[in-house]
Amino acid sequence: MQTPSQTLWKSRRGFLLAAMGSAVGLGNIWRFPYVAGENGGGAFILVYLGAVAMLGLPLVIAELAIGRSQRSDPVSAFATLEPRGRFRWVGWIGIAACIGILSYYPVITGWVANYLARTLALALPWNEADAISLDFSAIAAHPGQALLWYGIAIAVATAVVAAGVRNGIEKISKALMPLFLLLALGLAAWGLGNDGAAGALAFIFRPDWRFLALPSTYLAAIGQAFFSLGVAMAVLITYGGYMARDQRLPRAALTIVAGDTAIAMLGGLILFPAVFALGFDPAEGAALAFVVLPQMFAAMPAGIGLGIGFYLLLLIAALTSIIALIEALVAVAVGRWRIARKPAALAVGLAVFMIGLPATLGYGLLSRGDPGTATWLDLADGLTSQILLPLNGIVLALMVGWVWSRARSEEAAELRDAPWRHGWIWSLRIGIPLSILAAMAKAFDLL
Ligand code: TRP
Repeated sequence: MQTPSQTLWKSRRGFLLAAMGSAVGLGNIWRFPYVAGENGGGAFILVYLGAVAMLGLPLVIAELAIGRSQRSDPVSAFATLEPRGRFRWVGWIGIAACIGILSYYPVITGWVANYLARTLALALPWNEADAISLDFSAIAAHPGQALLWYGIAIAVATAVVAAGVRNGIEKISKALMPLFLLLALGLAAWGLGNDGAAGALAFIFRPDWRFLALPSTYLAAIGQAFFSLGVAMAVLITYGGYMARDQRLPRAALTIVAGDTAIAMLGGLILFPAVFALGFDPAEGAALAFVVLPQMFAAMPAGIGLGIGFYLLLLIAALTSIIALIEALVAVAVGRWRIARKPAALAVGLAVFMIGLPATLGYGLLSRGDPGTATWLDLADGLTSQILLPLNGIVLALMVGWVWSRARSEEAAELRDAPWRHGWIWSLRIGIPLSILAAMAKAFDLL
């Protein structure tokens, strides 16, 4: 299938930044440090690095290879992968996972946008009177406001996708990702100078080797690695489809994976020192960003400035991830149903808005009002990350490992002359399917 040149990334750096924007998300800033701390600190991090290198990286390479060699949307890519077209359904699993994430990720993004706006309002004297307190219960108490910011976040992401791969996604990634990195470095430096730094570092990095003997450590590492890299959700296939022939695929994959991992390590230095300085429980997960930090910022002289920087950081992380997920759906609408990009983006944006309504409004109506306890959100997250994502990971690995001939896989991944091509293919053929199966079996108490 021939693609006109305007649907390719304009530059190699543009592709890398867009892919990095997709991978780097809320998972890097709060999920990684917390999961690491809960599962043995430094010992977990070693297992995590192993999971990223041995399972994550091969899958990232495989997805980019599928995307670039088929040059079509993430569903059609599977229809043409094999002459008899028996595997189109594989593409739909990826789409289902993508929709699953989209049913709650934009909701959290809406909170972030809401918090950024409220922090800004506090910083502007003429708004001080109306500034709503930076208290999470305000979100439950003001469903209209939650809805507004949720809608704005989706509208912005949709507009970027509607503008196109080069003029929308690539441009915004080039503008926002360097800013993201600056903010992350600045905030991490601030975190390190904070009273809670020693506690945070000990929590995240101090190894507790006993965890190496627990299956749950490996399970958590694999789950976190896949979520953070954004594999098995149609996105890397979609972005890989816009990748130029002359960009080195293995090196690009390595850059994306290394960048995502580095940002996860950095993420731990941003939020967690404050958690420890204030004596909060790091297990509160998402709540930390919306409960702990506002208290910290409120108590500090330059706190508002830091707050603005922090929510801006989160917003960039989350927005570039939503853009990637929406693009995957739009690619299917454009590629399979021949709908023009703009109307397709509009339809997907509206659909995403509708899907997230239960989780957004669920805060006022269905939950106890604390972030992290919303029933809808937990359900969607559990279903996606514990069932769809691992399942799709297995099938993807088997497709590239067994359905494609070895020569074809190595050709598509540009690994023909790489000494580690054996490691790559056997990871896909055996390593990834078996480790995911074991992890799933364990999770469902079958082992
Ligand atoms: N990787 C993102 C994070 O760390 C979340 C995510 C999961 C994602 N799957 C994705 C983002 C697919 C974009 C595309 O928060």
